[in-house]
Amino acid sequence: MKKIGVALLGLGVVGGGVWEILTTKREMIKRNEGLDIEVVKVLERNIERCKQLGVDASIVTQDMDEIARDENVDIVAEFFGGVEPAKSFLIKALENGKSVVTANKEMFSKSWHELEAAAKKTGAGIYFEASCVGGVPVIRTLTDSMQANEITSLKGIVNGTTNYILSKMSDEGADYETCLKEAQKLGYAEANPTADVEGFDATYKNSILSSLAYRKRVPVEKVYREGISEVSVKDIEFGKQLGYTLKLLAISKLVNGKIEARVHPAFIHANHPLASVKGSFNALYIHGDNVDDVMLYGRGAGSLPTASAIVSDIVFAGGKDVHRRYFWEDEIEVNDDDFATDFTTAYYVRIAINGEDGALAKVAKAFENANINVKNVLKKNETDGEYLVLVTEETKESNMKSTLETVKGLSCTDDICAVLRVEN
Ligand code: HSE
Repeated sequence: MKKIGVALLGLGVVGGGVWEILTTKREMIKRNEGLDIEVVKVLERNIERCKQLGVDASIVTQDMDEIARDENVDIVAEFFGGVEPAKSFLIKALENGKSVVTANKEMFSKSWHELEAAAKKTGAGIYFEASCVGGVPVIRTLTDSMQANEITSLKGIVNGTTNYILSKMSDEGADYETCLKEAQKLGYAEANPTADVEGFDATYKNSILSSLAYRKRVPVEKVYREGISEVSVKDIEFGKQLGYTLKLLAISKLVNGKIEARVHPAFIHANHPLASVKGSFNALYIHGDNVDDVMLYGRGAGSLPTASAIVSDIVFAGGKDVHRRYFWEDEIEVNDDDFATDFTTAYYVRIAINGEDGALAKVAKAFENANINVKNVLKKNETDGEYLVLVTEETKESNMKSTLETVKGLSCTDDICAVLRVEN
């Protein structure tokens, strides 16, 4: 039976889960896959953690060079966060002919091509199923199950922390700060949750998924980003009254041959399948020209769900003699013209008004003058003031921005309190 030696870099939440699965499922994987996968090295400083998991001290090291030189190591699996030292360690492993498996979306989205260049020198492979949507097999669906399709769009909920927060704000009317604290307590959000709540984590994932979908490098900087920290429970409630649910969406699509990639909170119809994705669950919609819509759903975070994807990559890599290449070119030029910027979407706008007569007519006229159709209006008298809430038909972002400047200048307007996109 083919033997595969694995080195685990880090035994934290995900690394510990991988150790657990590889240990408890070793016989099952032998039986089902004909591969005997053994952890032969662990890079971990925390000796107590090693003891707690029952890792033999003889395989624990703190020296990456020792792992890179070890002939018994075929695959290196990494579970650090952040770019360094993960990137340098994985490049070292690839240059020594070891395939790598990673869950590190930030490092991978920013350094993909450097890793590919190192892999090409030795023929080693790079596997990153766990980098996007945790245990849900989105990467291999795109690469191994949809080759007959031109992918034209992706839409999904790819961050568990923000989905947990928005679901709780919507279901319980709790405010943002309370929900964030709860998410941290439950271990969904990081101690410093900026990457989650400001949408960075979702842009890393969008960059990876879009690059695969369109087979063109989509750098993180080309993914438009807005987070949820400014979202108020009032808008979630008003949106609900209009039949919408608010989600942090990762969206990318081909529009007239250009890639439009973005991450931002958006209202979707309450009967859209993504509206029922609650709590820390994730889901991704992929549209292929032949297969039509494919929707994948499951746990996008957590120790064992993420470890499940890592182990699947280890098994996949272990069974391959020739590894997959994603981009064959050594240098990938990023051409600004390949990316769309002035997006077209529908909008939800909440305007604070001051009680002046005819406010609705004045605001409606400003939208009409800009050729923006308003399809829904709510007039709300709240304890903190009076509001007009409008939902528009689709328009260009630039047109909406200039129209809102006009509305802001009207004598009846106190403030533009919220501007959120509405997606079909
Ligand atoms: N912090 C991430 C999330 C973990 O909340 O989705 C999984 O990538």
